[in-house]
Amino acid sequence: MDRVLTANFDHPDVDKLPVYEGRGGYRSLKKVFSLKPEQVIEEVKSSGLRGRGGAGFGTGMKWGFVPQNSGKPIYLCVNADEGEPGTFKDRELLLRDPHRLIEGVIIASYAIRCHTAYLYLRGEFFEPYQKLEAAIREAYTKGYLGKNILGTGYDLDLHIHRGAGGYICGEETALIESLEGKRGYPRLKPPFPAVQGLFGCPTVVNNVETLSALPYILEKGAASYKKMGTEKSPGTKLFSISGPVQKPGVYEIELGYPLRKFIHEDAGGMLPGKILKAVIPGGSSVPILDASEVEQVNLDYESMNQFGTFLGSGGVIVIDEDFCLVKALKVLAKFYAHESCGQCSPCREGTGWVHKIMTRMEAGKGTPADLDLLLNLADNMTGQTICVLADSIAMPTRSYIKKFRQEFEDHVALQKCSKM
Ligand SMILES: Cc1cc2nc3c(=O)[nH]c(=O)nc-3n(C[C@H](O)[C@H](O)[C@H](O)COP(=O)(O)O)c2cc1C
Ligand code: SF4
Repeated sequence: MDRVLTANFDHPDVDKLPVYEGRGGYRSLKKVFSLKPEQVIEEVKSSGLRGRGGAGFGTGMKWGFVPQNSGKPIYLCVNADEGEPGTFKDRELLLRDPHRLIEGVIIASYAIRCHTAYLYLRGEFFEPYQKLEAAIREAYTKGYLGKNILGTGYDLDLHIHRGAGGYICGEETALIESLEGKRGYPRLKPPFPAVQGLFGCPTVVNNVETLSALPYILEKGAASYKKMGTEKSPGTKLFSISGPVQKPGVYEIELGYPLRKFIHEDAGGMLPGKILKAVIPGGSSVPILDASEVEQVNLDYESMNQFGTFLGSGGVIVIDEDFCLVKALKVLAKFYAHESCGQCSPCREGTGWVHKIMTRMEAGKGTPADLDLLLNLADNMTGQTICVLADSIAMPTRSYIKKFRQEFEDHVALQKCSKM
């Protein structure tokens, strides 16, 4: 497997332009500028690259939806909001290889004919902000950004916009609203951002990791990228792993890799005395896998779907037998209730109700009827809202209770945690 995203992670000072260039950085641009924008889109389409922000939508296909004759400017927004609990991979890319992202931004912008790109950065990411700002300044000085890039006649400006801590601003239309200076409320779709996005103009929103894969794809070719991974989930992906494992952290893994192997070999296995109970494979909003499913599933979009869950953002959260799932669901519900923007009643009220019931249950005051009430609530929250934040607590609620009902029932019957 080639290291597409982490090739420079072991090289100190690669955030400095001369070091990045010394390692082959910005080399893909020569080829990119020799192609027409639509040829770049074709190359990315044929690589099979899928968006790494969570939904896994084909990147080249998304770019292809941007109308080229609207007479309006076209924008690229880099989604660097990374707020999903359990996910901490974009932060590493921003900190350890910011020029790779900038190179990716130039490639994407050229392909969609964008001349102004915005990078929406999670407000709490202060160190990544410093690194990025310095890297962008260097890129301007060396002529990779600004007017007449590398003498090609192509112009591109890249601006950083720092968020203010709202998880919902990672949702692409809320991100756009926030960039426009408004409250981060998700928009009803359609129209999709590709047609009517930032300032009413065609806009592509792409995740940091998605864009960081582009220099490799354009330099080495789509065929090299497709050699890795599976047919429908080609390439590599970053996975962040947390919980009671020996080596938590961020790993670049070829898609299709067995989850069991990732946990027990790459991440060093469980901590001494800990037994794996469950895994949340794709960030906190996806359905949970029990231990037997963990043995069978692979780290790719299709395999996860076969087990009723999602690859999501690649935030693998490992849970051991000593950890209470009632508590886990309460903590999660608190987060989503706090982060709901409040526009849709099933989300505004539903997330709050799940949190209230879970708080009661965790405190030993749950009733047997609560479990079905939670399932009913989850059903009423699913697919009813402007964005999928409501589903992000409905799906875990349903899967935790269905797969671990006994643990929830014990908690209710004992009126306390059975782990204590
Ligand atoms: C509530 C919510 C939060 C999201 N947060 C993020 C985020 O922090 N970073 C991200 O890249 N995508 C996030 N997304 C997904 C984006 O809406 C969008 O799909 C993504 O940025 C598209 O980029 P991609 O095609 O490169 O994956 C979020 C979606 C939802 C519904
Ligand atoms: S689902 Fe929730 S977060 Fe999304 S728009 Fe509706 S209220 Fe806001």
